[in-house]
Amino acid sequence: MKHFLSLADWSADELRQLLESAVQLKQAWKAGGNQPVLANKLLAMVFQKPSLRTRVSFEVGMKHLGGDALMLGPDEIGLGKRESIADVARVLSGYVQGIMARVFDHDHVVQLAQWASVPVINGLSDAEHPCQALADTLTIYEKFGRMAGLRVAYIGDGNNVAVSLAQACAHFGMHFVIASPEGYELPTAAVSQFETLAARSEEGATITRLRRPEEAAAGAHVIYTDTWVSMGQEAQSAARVAVMQPYQVNAALLKHADSDAIVLHCLPAHRGQEITDEVADGPHSAIFPQAENRLPAQKAILAQLMV
Ligand code: CP
Ligand code: NVA
Repeated sequence: MKHFLSLADWSADELRQLLESAVQLKQAWKAGGNQPVLANKLLAMVFQKPSLRTRVSFEVGMKHLGGDALMLGPDEIGLGKRESIADVARVLSGYVQGIMARVFDHDHVVQLAQWASVPVINGLSDAEHPCQALADTLTIYEKFGRMAGLRVAYIGDGNNVAVSLAQACAHFGMHFVIASPEGYELPTAAVSQFETLAARSEEGATITRLRRPEEAAAGAHVIYTDTWVSMGQEAQSAARVAVMQPYQVNAALLKHADSDAIVLHCLPAHRGQEITDEVADGPHSAIFPQAENRLPAQKAILAQLMV
């Protein structure tokens, strides 16, 4: 059984097929609709954290493909608290044909997948956000018509979104450059994983970890940022916001990038912190097409795993 827990579990060819499927599903929807390939199928959406894009794009995606989805919020099933993850996985497998889960501990999606007899999708964990990275690569591909050789500069916290974006770059031959303050770098395990994935795909991807945002942004085709305080890190908010101040994506930083650069942000944005209004709403911003691309990306994953 195939799950979608991490881009590291999928080959570059498999991910390329998902992207092609996403492009086709997007075109078909705009041309009149999608085939009901998931008719009579249900997706359980388990959320331990809030969500706008993930929740809505998965539910809408299921409906567009002829199926349906049900929302199980943090207070409803008490994943791992009211009931063990193994029991939740086995019970849900008797009712639905797929499980998408947003969790704190990445091991919880791994455990769901171990015990479920239906496919499990990681809708964000503290460690990775693979659905986001698929939509990000779709957006990059749409904007540039290629991926290999592009320079992707990630500015700020080396978090879950950065890890999955790095994996995508490794698969598709992009140069991933990240600038982060001390103590907030991309985990070293993610760097060695990058080298492994890049060697496997043979597309020439490279990874560079830097301190200075201007150095990372220099000549970049994509400037990417995310919140300085991820869900679950609220107690560290003051310290994080203080140390990340020089890592704001603003007009001055954008001047270092390629003249055709696009700016991406997974959202939600904390305008005035990691990104200014001027950049988020400016001519280089692709953050709303990027958010929209969560829908075809999700549909491609659902169709691949649940048909
Ligand atoms: N980017 C993203 O995953 O957004 P949500 O937290 O709103 O789902
Ligand atoms: N890094 C953020 C992403 C939100 C979509 C978080 O984990 O809260």
